[in-house]
This record gives sequence, C-alpha cells and structure tokens, in this order.
Amino acid sequence: MNIYENTNDRKNLLDVDHTIICHNTKALKASHPEVRRLKRVSAPQSAHGNKIWRSSFVLIDYLNTYPPEVEASILEVGCGWGLTGIYLAKHYAANVTALDIDSTVEPFLELQALENKTDVTFRLGDFASLSAADLKPYDTVIGADICFWDDLVEPLCDFIKLSLSVGVNRIIIADPGRPPFWTLCDIAVEQLNGEVLTRRIDKPIKTEKFILSIENK
Ligand SMILES: C[S@@+](CC[C@H](N)C(=O)[O-])C[C@H]1O[C@@H](n2cnc3c(N)ncnc32)[C@H](O)[C@@H]1O
Repeated sequence: MNIYENTNDRKNLLDVDHTIICHNTKALKASHPEVRRLKRVSAPQSAHGNKIWRSSFVLIDYLNTYPPEVEASILEVGCGWGLTGIYLAKHYAANVTALDIDSTVEPFLELQALENKTDVTFRLGDFASLSAADLKPYDTVIGADICFWDDLVEPLCDFIKLSLSVGVNRIIIADPGRPPFWTLCDIAVEQLNGEVLTRRIDKPIKTEKFILSIENK
C-alpha cells in the first residue's frame, strides 16, 4: 500500500527527514541524498569537516541573541560546511569569508549556501597563515568546534591576538568543551579579556555547548 497521497507528500517527507531548520536556516544532514552524492565523489575530509557539528547550532543561537551589525564583514574560521556563516549572510546580509584548511569542504558549503539562497566566499587556507592585512577587513571572527587538538591552541592564541591587534571587534568560538578549548579559554580569560559561558538549546536539537567570547576593548 502506498502511504503517501502523492509524490509531493513523499518528497516532503524525505526533505523533513534529511534537513534541520535552525533559526530559519536550512541545514542538509549528512544523510541528505545530495550530500550523499557529494560524499561519493569527494575525497574524505582531512580534519573533521565531514558534517555540521552541533556547536554550530549553539553558535547560531548565540548570534541570534547577540547579532552583528547588518552587512558586517565576518570571517568564519574552520568553516567546514559553513552553516553559521550562511546564517549570518542570510539574516544579516553579512559579507562572510568561510575559511578552511581542507578544500574538500567547499562543495558541501556551496550546497548548504545554495539551499539557503545565499552566498558566502570560500577561502582555502590555514588560519595560522593569515596576515595582519588579511584580518584587518573583518569586524567579527567566528568559529565552531575549531580547537579540537592540543596543537591548535598556540596557533589559535596567536591568531586571536593578531586579529585583536588589527581591530577585529569580536571573536566568538563555540565548542563542546574539549581539553584544548579549556586551555585556550584560560589564556583568553587571563590575557585577552575573554569570557566563557555555557549555552543550552532545545531546538533544533537538545544540546549544551560553551562559548568563548572576546570583545576588543
Ligand atoms: C570539527 S570541524 C567543525 C566544522 C564546522 N565549524 C562545524 O561546526 O560544523 C573542524 C574544521 O576546522 C577545519 N580546520 C582545522 N584546522 C584548521 C586550520 N588550521 N585552519 C583552517 N581550518 C582548519 C577542518 O578542516 C574542519 O572543517
């Protein structure tokens, strides 16, 4: 027996199963047919950019409460599939550069942006190799789940210090609370006027993550 009234009903059900809506931003899950097609033709991601990590949803929720100015220039570091930047481009007309060290994330980012009828600019590179001139145009730097190896702490600290020195106003990093993130937080709180808070969301998933927020004062 066909349980669907018509083909559209079935299509809608499939869509519901494979997407998540977070503050009016559509996220295609790894199980979405188009994502699966991309995975089949792509090399594996080298540094965990293989899905939308939960910290992104919490960061979006935080930014929904503390949004940037309209049309701000934003750098999303370790963007992976780039949902947070896409959210900011879609809802605040932000000019977003989405940076990642892994080129294979780009088609996934483009797909998510297309689904949201918005645009972000992908840049391939290591955040540690960005210069003062590279960072100067940005008002805000964001990152979700980017401090997951001990080796990332020192370069992230240097990157944050350089960003602040050239006038970036805000740096916001969301994390599930891995040990390297806490080391980064200790340094940021002691030396860089950083604040750490816990943020819990119920939608689109029930989860609790941590936000490191640094204001340039
Ligand atoms: C755990 S994933 C998080 C992806 C995305 N932010 C999210 O929340 O879904 C970490 C991402 O950081 C990227 N990454 C790791 N080291 C990096 C570096 N030094 N410079 C830029 N991107 C980096 C990885 O390629 C990966 O896409």
